[in-house]
Amino acid sequence: MGRCPVDHSTFAQAATPGGCPVSANAAAFNPFEPAYMQAPAEYLRWAREQEPVFFSPQLGYWVVTRYEDVKAVFRDNLLFSPSIALEKITPATPEVMSILQRYGFAMNRTMVNEDEPDHMERRRLLMDAFLPERLITLEPMVRHLARQYMDRFVNQGRADLVAEMFYEIPLNIALKFLGVPDEGAEQLRQFAVAHTLNTWGRPTPQEQLEIAENVGRFWQTAQQILDTMRAQPVGEGWMYETIRQHLLHPDVVPESYLRSMMMAILAAAHETTSNATANAFLTLLSHRKAWEDICANPALIPNAVEECLRVAGSIIAWRRQATADAVVGGVPIPKGSKLLLVQASANFDPRHFENPDEVDVYREAAVEHLTFGYGAHQCMGKNIGRLQMRVFLEEFVRRLPHMRLVEGQPLEYLSNTSFRGPAQLWVEWNPARNPERLQAHSAPEHAPEQAPFYIGPPAKDSITRTVVLKEKQPEGTSAFRLVFADPQGAALPAWSAGAHVDVVAGGFRRKYSLCGAAHDRQHLQVVIQREAEGRGGSRHFCDQLQPGDTVQLAGPKNLFRLDETADHYVLIAAGIGITPMLAMADRLQRLGKPYVLHYAGRSRAQMALLPRALQDHGPALTLHVKDEGGRMHLPTVVAGVQANHRVYACGPNRLIDELEALGAQWPEQVLHYEHFSGEGSGLQSDKEHAFVAVLKDSGLEVTVPPDRTLLQALQAAGVDVPCDCGEGLCGTCEVAVVSGEVDHRDKVLTKAERAANTRLLACCSRAAGQKVVLAL
Ligand code: HEM
Ligand code: FES
Repeated sequence: MGRCPVDHSTFAQAATPGGCPVSANAAAFNPFEPAYMQAPAEYLRWAREQEPVFFSPQLGYWVVTRYEDVKAVFRDNLLFSPSIALEKITPATPEVMSILQRYGFAMNRTMVNEDEPDHMERRRLLMDAFLPERLITLEPMVRHLARQYMDRFVNQGRADLVAEMFYEIPLNIALKFLGVPDEGAEQLRQFAVAHTLNTWGRPTPQEQLEIAENVGRFWQTAQQILDTMRAQPVGEGWMYETIRQHLLHPDVVPESYLRSMMMAILAAAHETTSNATANAFLTLLSHRKAWEDICANPALIPNAVEECLRVAGSIIAWRRQATADAVVGGVPIPKGSKLLLVQASANFDPRHFENPDEVDVYREAAVEHLTFGYGAHQCMGKNIGRLQMRVFLEEFVRRLPHMRLVEGQPLEYLSNTSFRGPAQLWVEWNPARNPERLQAHSAPEHAPEQAPFYIGPPAKDSITRTVVLKEKQPEGTSAFRLVFADPQGAALPAWSAGAHVDVVAGGFRRKYSLCGAAHDRQHLQVVIQREAEGRGGSRHFCDQLQPGDTVQLAGPKNLFRLDETADHYVLIAAGIGITPMLAMADRLQRLGKPYVLHYAGRSRAQMALLPRALQDHGPALTLHVKDEGGRMHLPTVVAGVQANHRVYACGPNRLIDELEALGAQWPEQVLHYEHFSGEGSGLQSDKEHAFVAVLKDSGLEVTVPPDRTLLQALQAAGVDVPCDCGEGLCGTCEVAVVSGEVDHRDKVLTKAERAANTRLLACCSRAAGQKVVLAL
């Protein structure tokens, strides 16, 4: 440590006058300084901006700070071995070694620090207990405990949530999950602190002695627990399953694994979740608007959990070692180098997350944080952590929505590279204002029936904001224009031409393009065609919704972006397809770009937004009104289209199909369209065949039966793939394809993209043959 390991000749151009490529900032980097723990992403902002991969002489590690680089290292667990994940980051002194020897301490390979192929074989054998369908039984247990613990302090008006709840419940749940008999919480807590400092901290030689004694005792306690369990390996819980697998497959689950894992998992299964929970409450309570938003709409909680894991995860850095010379973010990393992957920094990388410094519980990409790691070693217990955080938040927003942080309290963190959470978290409230005192029905015994509890990443359905319907006006004879505003008059999110929102009300959820004035941040406007023969959503919105009603909106999201670099634009709208086209025409007009707008409809009376189209875009507008004999003749409309032109269209499938045929010879970038529906993308289980999806990054094989989509099969296997529309329209569930022919059924990919066979939409597309290999 302290010595520069870099071959200075490789860094000639970066070398400082002294000849060493280590910059002053890199030399000063010290994760044991309080500033790192207080705000790790802030502490490394300079690195993300100036020197994303740097060598830290104080640590003896290469530090990786940007999202793509951290993910790339996690992804390649052969080139970047996890073997050092549990190594002492501060080498033991001879005195420490002799203490540990006295206790017979022999921490070895577990799961998280095991190399391939042994790791994956073991992981597969031991994965079952972590699958969503098995975890569902934990939810009532967590909820019961949460209510019981809250009962103890709900009338007090003040509590340290860490001491009174967030430490013990995750510990209880971890012990239950593992099948371990209830050990003394206080003693385990002391042990876990010693384990963290011993593995990831920088204690002084003097401090190390006491820590080593505790680590030794932890090791012995873990061994005793294990021996008791092994004497009668018939109980329920993951460690019992592990013992049974050891008896069946001692080569895959060896003796040394059992002994090491028992200690490692006792800490990993609860410290991570305790800390993550405390971090989440601290984050939300110090961003009051976010807290109020989840109080008003608890369905946002699963996404708020992900956003909190992004901005304040409980594992902030993890380790890997290069097994050969490598390059990370363009920087050569010599074989044998140790890497510190700072997830807390990656999670704030603006190259990946929009406005990363903001806490945004509506952020759809929140789930892409790297706090659980990524790839073959990604946290097996992630859904246990998520589940608990979610239940805690649900119970608090219902019973103590008026709770506040105690101001000015010091936030203390254990000094180490990786485990982060405040030692205490004081909150206060006025018990007289507890909803359960004001309204008897909000007491826990009257808590609302929970909808079926979903285990896994947040369902996109839940990420909605409450708005109020301000205005509702007929548009033509069969459509309505709806204008929404924030109930408190706050600004609504900005959006761009082509964006849509999902309107959610009365059990229906439908997508509608935004078509109001783009600069108006107070309102969002859509036009809804009343489909008399449809599935009921548009009828409900058009017939039932009245001004003053509250409605949920998801988005805005833009999957139909306007390329603003072309020389000329042909905009084609049929029927209600006018809505995104008008937004695009507005934008092009503002940009001063030449465009024409074709609008086809049955009769003038039926054509929505016609007066606005005439008034705002009259000179560019051509109407094709069927009952006036003006059917749209597409070959004429697109005659003369050139490579530097763009054609945007929105309408029914037959219009899009005809345009695709007409534009078959156009360069890829010319034609863009949006369908009304994902017709034909659905599953026809009697005609489908089963296939296997091989997940390259996670080393799993998932069988997809004929009656399940690939997306459903992946989610059931515990693999997070986001989903939005579920019908091949939005592109959210895109997955990279490594090999295997794909039967594409989406409406998102272009012909060329399909031919390239490098990605698929998992909600609808399937393997054409027996197998497809995915980069997941
Ligand atoms: C691995 C974080 C909760 C069990 C990991 C890794 C991280 C992590 C960063 C290493 C990933 C990698 O190397 O790519 C977290 C966080 C949690 C949490 C932030 C809570 C919010 C849990 C729980 C359990 C658990 C509750 C078990 C009950 C595991 C196991 C591994 C692991 C067994 C090793 C997986 C492997 O190497 O294949 N976790 N964890 N974790 N975690 Fe968690
Ligand atoms: Fe929308 Fe698959 S979720 S395309």
